[in-house]
Amino acid sequence: MAHIHSYWAYLVLITITIATINSILGWTSKRAFVGKDFSLALVALIVTHLQFVIGIVTYFVSDKIQWSNEDLGTKDIMGNSDLRLIHLEHPLTMIIAIALLTIGYSKHKRQLVSTPKFKTLSIFYCLALLLVLSRIPWKLWI
Ligand code: HEM
Repeated sequence: MAHIHSYWAYLVLITITIATINSILGWTSKRAFVGKDFSLALVALIVTHLQFVIGIVTYFVSDKIQWSNEDLGTKDIMGNSDLRLIHLEHPLTMIIAIALLTIGYSKHKRQLVSTPKFKTLSIFYCLALLLVLSRIPWKLWI
C-alpha cells in the first residue's frame, strides 16, 4: 500500500500544480472560464481524494507507524522530528490541504463570473499545494 501511496503522490503533485498554474493564468489574463478549466480543477480534486483514502489505509498497514510499542512511547515519537512527521504532521497537514481543495472547488462551482472563479481556485489550490509540499516526507520519498 505504501508503494501505491508513494507513486500516486506524483500524480497528486502534478495535477494540483497544473490546476493551480492554470487558474492563476486565467485569473491574471481575465479570460473566460471554460470546460477545460473545470476539468483540471476536478481531476486534481479526485486524484487528491483518492490519495487521502490510500493514505488512511497506508497509515494502518505501514510498518513505520507504531501503534503500541513498549520501547517507543508517544514522548519518543513526538520528540523525534522524522517520527513526528510521519505519525502526525504529514497526515494532519494533508487532511487540511485536502479540505482546502474541496472548499475552493465547491466555492468556485457556485460562482458565476469567470475571473472570481479563477481567483477562488488560485488561492485555495495554491495554499493546498504549499501545505502538501511542506509536509511530504522527502527523506523517505526521494
Ligand atoms: C495529498 C495527500 C498526500 C500526499 C501527497 C502524500 C504523500 C506521501 C509521500 C510522498 C510519502 C512517502 C512515500 C515513500 O515512502 O516513498 C508518504 C508516506 C506516508 N503517508 Fe502520505 N500523502 C498524503 C496523504 C496522507 C494521509 C491522509 C495519510 C494518513 C492519514 C498519509 C499517511 C502516510 C504514511 C503512514 C506514510 C508512510 C508510509 C511508509 O513509508 O510506510 N498520507 N505520503
